[in-house]
Amino acid sequence: MDFETIEERDGVRFSWNVFPSGKAENSRLVIPIASLYRPLNDRSDVPTVFYEPVVCKAPCHAALNPYCQVDTRAKFWICPFCLQRNPLPHQYKDISSSNLPIELMGQSTTIEYTLSRPVKSPPVFLFVMDTMLDQVELQALKSSIIVTLSLLPPDAIVGLITFGSFVQVHEISSELMAKSYAFGPNVPYTPKQLQQLLALTGAQYTAHTRSAAIQETGVRLNLGAAGRFLMPVQQCEFQISNILEQLQPEVSNVPTGQRPKRCTGAALNIAAGLLELTSRNTGARVMLFAGGPCTVGAGQVVSLELKEPMRSHSDIIMNKAQHFKKASKFYTGLTQRFVESGHTVDILIGCLDQIGLMEMECLVNRTNGNVVLSDSFNTSIFKQSFQRIFSLDAAGFLRMGFNASMTIKSSADLKVAGLVGHATSVNKKASNVSDVSIGLSGTSTWKMCSLSPSSCFAIYFTIANQSSDAIVQAKQGYVQYLTYYQHSSGTQRLRVTTIARPFSNMKLNNIAASFDQEAAAVLIARMALYRALSTDGISNLRFLDHTLIRLCQNFAEYRKNEPETFRLQPNYTLFPQFMFHLRRSPFFQVFNNSPDETSFYRHILQVEDVNNSLIMIQPTLQSYTFENPEGVPVLLDSMSIRPDGILLLDTFFHILIFHGSTIAQWRNAGYQDQPEYANFKELLEAPRLEVTELLHDRFPIPRFIVCDQGGSQARFLLSRINPSVSHNDSFGYNSGPSEAVLTEDVNLQKFMEHLRKVSVSS
Ligand SMILES: *[C@@H]1O[C@H](CO)[C@@H](O)[C@H](O)[C@H]1NC(C)=O
Ligand SMILES: *[C@@H]1O[C@H](CO)[C@@H](O)[C@H](O)[C@H]1NC(C)=O
Ligand SMILES: *[C@@H]1O[C@H](CO)[C@@H](O)[C@H](O)[C@H]1NC(C)=O
Ligand SMILES: *[C@@H]1O[C@H](CO)[C@@H](O)[C@H](O)[C@H]1NC(C)=O
Ligand SMILES: *[C@@H]1O[C@H](CO)[C@@H](O)[C@H](O)[C@H]1NC(C)=O
Ligand SMILES: *[C@@H]1O[C@H](CO)[C@@H](O)[C@H](O)[C@H]1NC(C)=O
Ligand SMILES: *[C@@H]1O[C@H](CO)[C@@H](O)[C@H](O)[C@H]1NC(C)=O
Ligand SMILES: *[C@@H]1O[C@H](CO)[C@@H](O)[C@H](O)[C@H]1NC(C)=O
Ligand SMILES: [Zn+2]
Repeated sequence: MDFETIEERDGVRFSWNVFPSGKAENSRLVIPIASLYRPLNDRSDVPTVFYEPVVCKAPCHAALNPYCQVDTRAKFWICPFCLQRNPLPHQYKDISSSNLPIELMGQSTTIEYTLSRPVKSPPVFLFVMDTMLDQVELQALKSSIIVTLSLLPPDAIVGLITFGSFVQVHEISSELMAKSYAFGPNVPYTPKQLQQLLALTGAQYTAHTRSAAIQETGVRLNLGAAGRFLMPVQQCEFQISNILEQLQPEVSNVPTGQRPKRCTGAALNIAAGLLELTSRNTGARVMLFAGGPCTVGAGQVVSLELKEPMRSHSDIIMNKAQHFKKASKFYTGLTQRFVESGHTVDILIGCLDQIGLMEMECLVNRTNGNVVLSDSFNTSIFKQSFQRIFSLDAAGFLRMGFNASMTIKSSADLKVAGLVGHATSVNKKASNVSDVSIGLSGTSTWKMCSLSPSSCFAIYFTIANQSSDAIVQAKQGYVQYLTYYQHSSGTQRLRVTTIARPFSNMKLNNIAASFDQEAAAVLIARMALYRALSTDGISNLRFLDHTLIRLCQNFAEYRKNEPETFRLQPNYTLFPQFMFHLRRSPFFQVFNNSPDETSFYRHILQVEDVNNSLIMIQPTLQSYTFENPEGVPVLLDSMSIRPDGILLLDTFFHILIFHGSTIAQWRNAGYQDQPEYANFKELLEAPRLEVTELLHDRFPIPRFIVCDQGGSQARFLLSRINPSVSHNDSFGYNSGPSEAVLTEDVNLQKFMEHLRKVSVSS
């Protein structure tokens, strides 16, 4: 089976698909053995069962799977992880090779268990809404939230907190009179104080299932006193809509020269407290809508004085960002509380300037929350992205898992070095945890709080230092991913994926041929980004270069000191190019963007799957010309720019249509409106049709830009393509068939030349 088929079935891709047998061999691989795994891999035909998994003896607890050896006569099974023998459970006494339970069948490498453990409550959505907005922004935000209420399952529980210069918690139970509780920005209210002030004693949900039967829909909720603030949407939709309608924009009385008072941090503290009091360890999302930076109270990222600008990258690096450390520390503390309760925070931004996303990043990157970055709440980027969060699966359930956590089991020869992705380590140190540390390390269990079908986690492994004999005997390495989560139908689920990969047998080195360069590029990008949070930019580029050079030294064919003999195997040829584009990407070249934009870009790269991540690393480019009116993929290179062609660039964050200068002239002359130039009209429209395709399931919605050769927006294209033609070349600007690019950095050709030279030198 090829990688793509395996990915479709199990949601897994490995950097190497044959494992080395021993530490020495492992270190020669340069790129760690690692997998990208999507627990909620969107596949309609996952085998599903309605019982608890059969698990191995303590301390292993791996779940029964197709790689177990089963002796149907002697009634035992052998666990491939620990090699212990386990008796077959009573209910399996009649199984035979022709009558196997689903979890032992070959296609059950991924299986989903619906557990009988009752879930305490349907998911909670707590909207934390900025009202320090002007009329247009507030109106747009209100309408979007009202639309969303109608998209939620009727039993989903909702609540509303608004904030501006102070925080308001709204009672949503009373149909007669809108009542709210106000909190100032400067008091760090504890849950206990909150409990008294909101009169919430005994608020913990108590739920009763009518019977022990699974998939019970009749879970009765007794929200207790908290029912005044958190209610099933079907009972409070009208009331919430009323409250929203009556909200007034707060932004009017701001003194000149000042920013509006906005206490985002205080509002999040109250949200955390309210959920701690009511919904601990059940699924909940806090959705923060921010229209500007926090300027008062805890979590302040900038002062009220407009003359103090928002911090820039260099302010942060030079330690000149006054509020940065304090704010980051505050949001980190808050994040810990959300994680402990199993709750997720989403940040949805409608603001032209920065709001302090970099300081608040941990709220989303440790709870697997969404970030939507838009200039205004009145944009389709915000409106459609927000709605897309609530998209439904074929059965009509939200495509969301709640209160999720993941555990990795591995066979004795493999150890878990860590995870890079949006999660929090729970510091559960098992014997299978490596002392090598990559990302969130020192554990084999992480909490994700929430999951979506696109959530993808990078998990890194090392090879244990055992005698090579033992490993050769083992023949295969095994990894099991166990993901617990609350399904939006209200049931508790366990998704189990078990994979096996062969160990190399020393003689025939087939590890090299098992290299998945696409997965490897994404895995290295994630490692470098994780490092980027704590190291400087230069050392990260060095890390990328060093990795690439060592990989080439070990896997290319060449004769020492003869660069012209350098050859890469077919499944390595794209990797240097990925690294070239990654180095130049906004993930590492941060100075053209604000800190908030950098946080946003990095956030998305740390969660997407291989295909989407590759688009971010090396954007796709299509060319539309009269010879190829349907569009053909072309090199991401300045050579691809033609006056008589249209280009479509997809960087994942931006989708850009670029008209060559001749095309733009014809268009301005209106040829497309003349019947005899119908083919020109079609040519103009072709890329737009493709854009519709691209937008179909993209999240967040990318920015769409249309520009002409020579226009200022063309910089989005020029900054990402390989400058193969530079000003220094014989082609002058606009004089040749291809566009010159203004750039100081080297092009791909020089980069490769250098790589060959360095790799072959001894
Ligand atoms: C962890 O590794 C040890 C050997 O180092 C093995 O015996 C044990 O079964 C493994 N445990 C799990 C949970 O994979
Ligand atoms: C939520 O997850 C935690 C561990 O991450 C678990 O202990 C708890 O039981 C889960 N809650 C429910 C209702 O299953
Ligand atoms: C989340 O972001 C913060 C701040 O940038 C960083 O310190 C932390 O390491 C990140 N965590 C993860 C899991 O990526
Ligand atoms: C808000 O969006 C609507 C619909 O897109 C548009 O008609 C309106 O002009 C926008 N308002 C402002 C002030 O931008
Ligand atoms: C790994 O095992 C070999 C022998 O099998 C030993 O010589 C070496 O020192 C060990 N390395 C480490 C880091 O333990
Ligand atoms: C890598 O290349 C080798 C030899 O060309 C080929 O046999 C192998 O299938 C390729 N592997 C992948 C993963 O494409
Ligand atoms: C990734 O892209 C390839 C090629 O476009 C496609 O065949 C494959 O199905 C995609 N994989 C996923 C998981 O979307
Ligand atoms: C441009 O070309 C000149 C002469 O060919 C060369 O000396 C100079 O170093 C080049 N500059 C760049 C930036 O490549
Ligand atoms: Zn076991």
